[in-house]
Amino acid sequence: MKKFVLVTGGTGYIGSHTAVELIEEGFEVVIVDNLVNSSIEVLDGIEQITGIRPHFEKFDLCDSIKIDELCKKYPRLEVIVHFAALKAVGESVEIPLDYYYNNLVSSINLLRAMIDYNIPNMVFSSSAAVYGLPDKLPVTEDSPVKKANSPYGNTKQIIEEIILDTINVNSNLEAISLRYFNPIGAHKSALIGELPLGVPLNLVPYVTQTAIGIRDHLRVFGNDYNTPDGTGVRDYINVVDLSRAHVSAIKRLLDKKCKSNYEVFNLGTGKGLSVMEIVKSFEKATGQKIKYKIYPRRPGDIDIVYADTSYSNRELGWKAEISLEETLLSAWNWEKNIRKKS
Ligand code: NAD
Ligand code: UFG
Repeated sequence: MKKFVLVTGGTGYIGSHTAVELIEEGFEVVIVDNLVNSSIEVLDGIEQITGIRPHFEKFDLCDSIKIDELCKKYPRLEVIVHFAALKAVGESVEIPLDYYYNNLVSSINLLRAMIDYNIPNMVFSSSAAVYGLPDKLPVTEDSPVKKANSPYGNTKQIIEEIILDTINVNSNLEAISLRYFNPIGAHKSALIGELPLGVPLNLVPYVTQTAIGIRDHLRVFGNDYNTPDGTGVRDYINVVDLSRAHVSAIKRLLDKKCKSNYEVFNLGTGKGLSVMEIVKSFEKATGQKIKYKIYPRRPGDIDIVYADTSYSNRELGWKAEISLEETLLSAWNWEKNIRKKS
């Protein structure tokens, strides 16, 4: 019998790619999303790729009554993969209460439902942001959690703590927090991908929008960092590789392979790349020239961060496999595809 997985935020960027991987692995996927940062057409993309349309319920996870109704409608849910959140770092500084309310209340409601409706497993979308400016590189799962430098980052730290506290007193519950480094790229079909609203904050969507002519040039934020070429270094991971790690985490939970009721894994490639290396690789992969100018450092940015992935590779039996060039080409194909539609 198919196992039911609830994917919150499943019409969003990472959620939609994970829904595809889960459906392809034979899971029955139920998506909840209020579409605050995604669109209903994403369901068409998932269906076109997999041949299956996931169940979809549109509501705000801050509404606990709606969650009750959902759990009664789908009594066989075994896992919640919790992606739904507001995620813009800068915006979270402007409207902190919206971020704390949305991200914390939705998570608390889901944990309450796990207890009330006997849903034993959760996979939570956390972030490498919890490590702040790391003392040592690469960053292992044992690296200390540092004071968050934005309300958004703080919600991730607080939710991880809330999950742990809840699990400590509910021995039938288990959870895995996955700390993402920098997810980039799109599904190779170019039928789903990232849909940033307005001016993109992240590097790769800005690069693809520059290549297609929506932006005049890429703003490279700082070339005086303590890195080989002076530009910031990050660990960029293909979104499909990242999604596959969720399938591994779910299987680990369902197969009762966890070493403790709460586990944490880094999801990255283990390799740090600079802004200029991304630009050069994009040009090589796509044949598109990227115009760029050097700007001052962006407030809050750090020099360099990348993951130690040995623990997640070993324990999850998973490894990021898709090459950087293939990943950047997928981002470019997605950009071309969405502009064709609009
Ligand atoms: P996204 O904005 O594309 O997807 C999140 C989805 O959640 C959206 O579709 C949005 O409509 C939905 N949502 C938000 N609040 C909701 C609510 N109260 N009720 C119902 N639906 C709600 O973001 P993403 O990039 O796919 O990120 C997914 C998760 O991964 C988030 O938790 C994010 O914080 C985390 N994360 C993302 C990155 C990244 O670089 N993309 C890095 C680290 C962690
Ligand atoms: N950058 C530019 N120009 C841009 C955008 C970014 O030069 O237009 C640079 C940044 O200065 C940084 C690098 O590109 O050096 C990556 O920046 P992103 O904004 O793409 O990603 P961040 O590392 O700042 O943050 C991302 C997510 C966060 C998450 C974090 C975890 O946006 O939510 O990864 O590592 F917390």
